[in-house]
Amino acid sequence: MDQAVPLSLGEEITARIDALAAISATPDAITRVFLTPQHRGAADMLMAWMREAGMAAHLDAIGNVCGRYEGASSGRSCLMLGSHYDTVRDAGRWDGPLGIITAIACVADLHRRHVRLPFAVEIVGFADEEGVRFGSTLLGSRAVAGTLDRRVFDSTDVDGVSMRDAMAAFGLDAALVGQAARARGDIHAYLELHIEQGPVLESEHLPVGVVTAISGATRLAVSLDGFAGHAGTVPMALRRDALAGAAECIVAIESLCKSDEALVGTVGIIDARPGATNVIPGRVSFTVDVRSASDADRKRAVTDIARRIEAIARRRDLVPHIDVTHESGTVSCALWLSSQIGDAIAAEGHRILTLPSGAGHDGMAMIDITAIAMIFVRCRGGISHNPAEHASVEDVDTAARVLLRVIENFRPVGP
Ligand code: GLV
Ligand code: MN
Ligand code: MN
Repeated sequence: MDQAVPLSLGEEITARIDALAAISATPDAITRVFLTPQHRGAADMLMAWMREAGMAAHLDAIGNVCGRYEGASSGRSCLMLGSHYDTVRDAGRWDGPLGIITAIACVADLHRRHVRLPFAVEIVGFADEEGVRFGSTLLGSRAVAGTLDRRVFDSTDVDGVSMRDAMAAFGLDAALVGQAARARGDIHAYLELHIEQGPVLESEHLPVGVVTAISGATRLAVSLDGFAGHAGTVPMALRRDALAGAAECIVAIESLCKSDEALVGTVGIIDARPGATNVIPGRVSFTVDVRSASDADRKRAVTDIARRIEAIARRRDLVPHIDVTHESGTVSCALWLSSQIGDAIAAEGHRILTLPSGAGHDGMAMIDITAIAMIFVRCRGGISHNPAEHASVEDVDTAARVLLRVIENFRPVGP
């Protein structure tokens, strides 16, 4: 396939990344969490771009933005492309939107050239991959895979708003979320393009790479109950300080995860109550995020972390509660589709590098209904989940060319 792809694809995509980044709850970095007005604004912008690219677009029952570009005849199964349009707090602009916007640019290119393929191309902008607001991740893709646990609708954000009520305020009905689910036969495969979020491609001097597998993850919500008291009057030996206990737990988690190269563990949120300089903290909650490419190592580490928290709590006379808020095993990308990505990368004149993903992605949920594969794009310094996140126009252009080649040459395999 030797058709000329306009060099401006990278610039066009970068300009849209910047336009979407302007929709944020924070002025100097990007914060766009599930079911907020910013989330709605981004959804509307993405749907407008999908329609401009010749797609039919709608918002589904969980708030995913869905676009469809029909094949040569209508009603065909699709190649599904996508990524997420929610962000972490103080995020960069590339994590998520790059995959959606690049996919839209590719479809727009097909549309401009009046190309219709023997299959449909669908693009999904998943509504909540990061799980920032309700502490539960992959909500958008789980709804599409039909595996969303309905108990999640009762979870609340920091202001006590339930997901069910937040959905209603957004114009969605939690009772209808089943309508977002897709049938296995609708989708040939799910393919996501995403920044690498790590340093490997940069160190290998490569613009793009092929993902082999996405590491499994467990997230915990931990709380420790002690006893609040006066910071000036209660002797140190008589205290049940929940924050000092949490500090010990955090260091124990860090040292456990440092002891095994295949593990990473993070405490990303901590909240001490009642929260005053002169009050001994009576209750502390914190999160734990543990990941490994080996499910056995991760499970062992989670069990170990729970034991250590319980031992520290016992010694300090604190009461621990540990809830698992998310659990997903390592998922493998389909070799047959990854090899099509490799062919496209080679056709663009680059060495094919395969690498695993330490970050989570919507493919972890989509694997329940279809084969998945991913293309990684080099990002500066391997920095992500940070406003300094950056991908160059040249790399984005290369990635778009690779994706376009994969789409045009796509050969479905399997059931
Ligand atoms: C998503 O970015 C995750 O890996 O947590
Ligand atoms: Mn992310
Ligand atoms: Mn992401």
